[in-house]
Amino acid sequence: MRVLVIGSGGREHAIIRKLKESKKVDQIYAAPGNGGISKDAECVDIAPCDLEKMTAFCVEQKIDFAVVAPDDPLVAGMVDALNEAGIRTFGPNKAAAILEGSKVFSKNLMKKYNIPTAKYEVFDDPKKAIAYIEEENTFPAVIKADGLALGKGVIIAEDLAAAKDAVHSIMEDKMFGASGNHIVVEEFLTGPEVSVLSFCDSKTIVPMVSSMDHKRALDGDKGLNTGGMGTVAPNPYYTPEVAEECMKTIFLPTVEAMNKEGRPFKGCIYFGLMLTPKGPKVIEYNCRFGDPETQVVLPLLKTDLMEIFEAVYDERLAEVPVEFETEKACACVIAASGGYPQSYPKGIEIQGLNENGQSSLATVYHAGTKYEDGKFLTNGGRVLGLTNVGDTLEEALDKSYASLKEITFEGIHYRKDIGKRALAAK
Ligand code: AMP
Ligand code: GLY
Repeated sequence: MRVLVIGSGGREHAIIRKLKESKKVDQIYAAPGNGGISKDAECVDIAPCDLEKMTAFCVEQKIDFAVVAPDDPLVAGMVDALNEAGIRTFGPNKAAAILEGSKVFSKNLMKKYNIPTAKYEVFDDPKKAIAYIEEENTFPAVIKADGLALGKGVIIAEDLAAAKDAVHSIMEDKMFGASGNHIVVEEFLTGPEVSVLSFCDSKTIVPMVSSMDHKRALDGDKGLNTGGMGTVAPNPYYTPEVAEECMKTIFLPTVEAMNKEGRPFKGCIYFGLMLTPKGPKVIEYNCRFGDPETQVVLPLLKTDLMEIFEAVYDERLAEVPVEFETEKACACVIAASGGYPQSYPKGIEIQGLNENGQSSLATVYHAGTKYEDGKFLTNGGRVLGLTNVGDTLEEALDKSYASLKEITFEGIHYRKDIGKRALAAK
């Protein structure tokens, strides 16, 4: 098979390296890919949201299957465009991608179908939003832009002044553009967070091994929110009992709800969960693989990923036994550019990688890199994901941190406490 993976981050690199193991896959293309991906796939310079060019490329190159990994092309209808041109795909169509594309949609869906989530109200008028926050008078208050906002559309306001600022910035100053035309104001929940990615063909849902992200930029969960500074799998808080409860109260009802709404979901549903004192609740849905969750989940997958992708497209997921390593753990530590998630330099040479952008010390998933004149250079905020599988989480973490003694670049920033909370939970 000739397979195209759309996207350019560590998540896409992890998908591509897993697909390389498949007996069914002969050739992999990435659009646009990155420096490290160029060693595992043929990179084509097409923007992830360019529906027309992407479709034309797939038809001309006789692509058998396309994996649409990032949120924006999914929400923009890339899957619909490719399917219309006769290309088989992994990922939800536009109608189903709204699960992530609109928080107002997903919150209303949960309310309508009794899926546990934080109590909330929706507003299109900043004055009414502020009046509601004043009336509730419980802080922190959580304020979310309706649409996609590069993972930054959530503001946790510690007091009324901060909440007012957030409402003004999102709704009036349009800090996230049209994504802020509507906002969700919701109750602040507490408890350990769990990410559960799942394969779903609209009839069957198969959760993957659970994981834990580390979203803040600095140790001790301090600093700004980022796309994710590291992940571990499995997540020790996600016990078999919790998993069973989530299946019953969240996963199956979500699949059913999307079917009832006439928006059958085929692809990966990412459940961002909080295990609150009152049981598991949904913090957010994503309509795609998480980044950097994928980097720790897919290395533990034993089943041929291409077979699963095809089964999801054909709606026969129930026939495929999806298996994960149950006795191992995986850890991914993100090496970021100095300054991320704010401004940072690019084009700095990365030391310690071999000619394939890899290392004997870790599987190196490239996120923001480019390859130029025989060198790997930084080209984004999150640069590399240093990943290892181990018999224990300690072992996986030790190996990934050891790799950072050799793999480095000027200004490198990484958290020193990835997995600490997971280890303490045991
Ligand atoms: P999101 O962009 O939806 O993933 O949200 C970013 C982070 O904000 C989440 O991972 C949570 O840590 C936090 N968060 C979002 N909603 C809530 C909430 N209702 N209560 C507490 N924390 C939240
Ligand atoms: N790691 C969080 C996300 O992919 O949204």
